[in-house]
Amino acid sequence: MTVRVAVLGAGGVARRHVEVLSSLEGVEVVTVADPERARADTLADLAGARACSSVEEALDAGRPDAAYVCVPPFAHGDPERAVIARGLPMFVEKPVGTDLTVARELADLVAAAGLATATGYHWRCSDVLGEVRERLAAAPAYAASGYWLDKRPPVGWWAHTNRSGGQVVEQLTHVVDLARLLLGEVTEVYAAGVRVPASQPVRAHEGDRGDVDDATVATLRFAGGAVASLTATSLLDLKHRAALHLFSRGLVTEVDETGAAFVGADGRTEVTPTEDPKLVVDREFVEVVRGEREAASAPYAEALRSHAVAWSVAESARTGAPVRLDDVLAPAGVAG
Ligand SMILES: NC(=O)c1ccc[n+]([C@@H]2O[C@H](COP(=O)([O-])OP(=O)(O)OC[C@H]3O[C@@H](n4cnc5c(N)ncnc54)[C@H](O)[C@@H]3O)[C@@H](O)[C@H]2O)c1
Repeated sequence: MTVRVAVLGAGGVARRHVEVLSSLEGVEVVTVADPERARADTLADLAGARACSSVEEALDAGRPDAAYVCVPPFAHGDPERAVIARGLPMFVEKPVGTDLTVARELADLVAAAGLATATGYHWRCSDVLGEVRERLAAAPAYAASGYWLDKRPPVGWWAHTNRSGGQVVEQLTHVVDLARLLLGEVTEVYAAGVRVPASQPVRAHEGDRGDVDDATVATLRFAGGAVASLTATSLLDLKHRAALHLFSRGLVTEVDETGAAFVGADGRTEVTPTEDPKLVVDREFVEVVRGEREAASAPYAEALRSHAVAWSVAESARTGAPVRLDDVLAPAGVAG
């Protein structure tokens, strides 16, 4: 079966998915939609697909079997509702929203429709995680440090909390997701953030300073008893580190997008994935659409839970108060 795909949003991450999908056997990108028509045209040309100005046109004209939602955080909602209304399997890029309101609504719609989903939490797709889990089963981690230490991304929406959700929601969320996968559910978070004073000159490449914090430090407690500290910063001129380090009795386990390392008294062992997780995440979704695989590594409901933790960290940094995940995820929780 050839899987026909509609791509909604034609920016940086959509290009990556189009390149990967085009490299897979039996997959055809049939339509690309973006309100910025020139972007849709460029990416559609690359894919040999039809360019569309609206999500509806892309979903109706192309007779797709599945859709990719590759819009910025603030634009989630209408594209997914259109996909769900047509009963199509759906891949959604992370984060699934800026806050929890739309994401919770969409999770309910997906569940009610029984749709197959996948999300852009591709760190889960690294095949080194099998060995990581085995080592952690033998030597459980009681503590962890997570990092997203980077420069500001060049997209205009990023600097504004109401458009990106902020750095924790937009970037550190990959590390949060991995921490949930390896340490279990988070019960409570506490965080603080800081901004460079307005009196400091804006550096040319920083562009729009917006309102996002320049650094956030958080403490997380997990249901199993483990604790973690997470640090995000966009103060740098290059990506310094995006990783999760886990601490067990006699063992440090370092995990990032490119592999894992195990450090103990007998030295350091590094392992790298046999396949790029960014490719695997798309192949998994195609297999789910074809019925060759039961579920993707990070279906929408899982993405919502990781997003809820990231949002709680941002909320704690904003209010100065700890946030309990039970309150956030309860049916009538603080996030509605
Ligand atoms: N998983 C990953 O590794 C990864 C990597 C990069 C980006 N992302 C995520 O992907 C998302 C998009 O990032 P990007 O870098 O591609 O941003 P971008 O700004 O380059 O592209 C987003 C595109 O979506 C379009 N758009 C906005 N509203 C739309 C709508 N309603 N319908 C259709 N298109 C719409 C915009 O015009 C823009 O062209 C972000 O949430 C980002 O966090 C994930």
